[in-house]
Amino acid sequence: MEIDKSYDGREHSLIKHELLGSYLEKLLYIVGGSGEKEITYVDCFSGPWADDSDDLHGTSIAISLDIIKRVREGLAAKNNNIYDIKFRAVYVEENKSRFRKLKGYLEGNCPSFIEHHELSGDYSDLQDDILNVCGKGFAFFFVDPKGWKDVGVPRLSKLLRRSRSEFLITFMYDFMNRFLKLEDLRDPVQSMLGKVDQEFLSELQNKTPKEREDAVVRRYREHLKSVFGGEANKKSWTYHATVLNKDKNRTVYHMVYLTRHPKGIVVFSRESHQVAIFQHRVRYEKQNRITGQMPLFVPEDDDFQGEVAANIEDVKTYWLDHLSSAPAAYGQAELADWLEETGWLEYDFQRAFNELRKEGQVENLDDKSNQRTKRFVHFDKNERLRKLA
Ligand SMILES: C[S@@+](CC[C@H](N)C(=O)[O-])C[C@H]1O[C@@H](n2cnc3c(N)ncnc32)[C@H](O)[C@@H]1O
Repeated sequence: MEIDKSYDGREHSLIKHELLGSYLEKLLYIVGGSGEKEITYVDCFSGPWADDSDDLHGTSIAISLDIIKRVREGLAAKNNNIYDIKFRAVYVEENKSRFRKLKGYLEGNCPSFIEHHELSGDYSDLQDDILNVCGKGFAFFFVDPKGWKDVGVPRLSKLLRRSRSEFLITFMYDFMNRFLKLEDLRDPVQSMLGKVDQEFLSELQNKTPKEREDAVVRRYREHLKSVFGGEANKKSWTYHATVLNKDKNRTVYHMVYLTRHPKGIVVFSRESHQVAIFQHRVRYEKQNRITGQMPLFVPEDDDFQGEVAANIEDVKTYWLDHLSSAPAAYGQAELADWLEETGWLEYDFQRAFNELRKEGQVENLDDKSNQRTKRFVHFDKNERLRKLA
């Protein structure tokens, strides 16, 4: 991933856009390759925002159109039948002058095969219109507000209840955290987190800042999930990626992801992993620029793994707690549950399984060669695993 200089000073937007772009690309390949006939991208807070270039390349508008175009070309190269997929992009913007810019941009730049809709106004008031244009096919919603109050669960609820949908929502933790205790902001806080009583606030008081952040974002995820529900009474999953302040080691926002498909969370967490490494690279290079120091070496992605990996002993213990001595199949649904529960990465689970395997504590009965170097468990193939006595 390249570091685009036009993001100087707003590196957190760069990280957000990398995650949006890289996940959207994977998602569209999966959904487009599955026989789906209608795919809609919805940008509920589209802007254009903080980018004065003519091509708006540093905005979610240009990024989403570019990804749709690229995926369609990629799918077409493999399969001729994709030309009957209808691609749609819906952009919602409340600010009048930004809306005019959006409209002009789409008229001049949206590829003709993408049916584009631009809606002017508050996304929450426009939920029925958005749902109407989405039709019945698959839809991905990007919900990226400026502040924290705009993505309260009641304001999003009609969209959340739509079936065949996924969401990526920017949760402005740092802003909200400052107001958590204020009595006069209790209603907006509850719209985000559900019922906030004295007991919850006291529990937060006793936590470290990191634990508190985790508890708050997980409350938001649970609240979203309570409305999002599962497809045909099945389950749904949430995950979040953390975007850090460009200079300080502090969270600016979380990118909260919601899906009703276990593969969704597996793929999203893989993309989050790559983007987390990229985030550390951006911070490292920026720090070098500020101090004027020439780096002693050019770091590889592996040099940043330590910054993003979970404690391997914790992951090993988790594996041992979940395996039994009788062989059992472990698939994407199990991995999705574990990723959601722990917030770790598939990389952590693979690495820990390999250590346990080398220590003779676990076995993959479907890995006949026992010589794999990377993916020690193929969760997509429901491999049989067991704990050795
Ligand atoms: C953070 S910016 C969006 C950035 C854009 N998603 C991107 O990544 O390039 C938020 C945008 O949403 C618009 N906005 C604010 N409140 C809104 C609302 N209630 N409904 C729709 N748009 C809104 C703002 O005018 C602004 O352009």
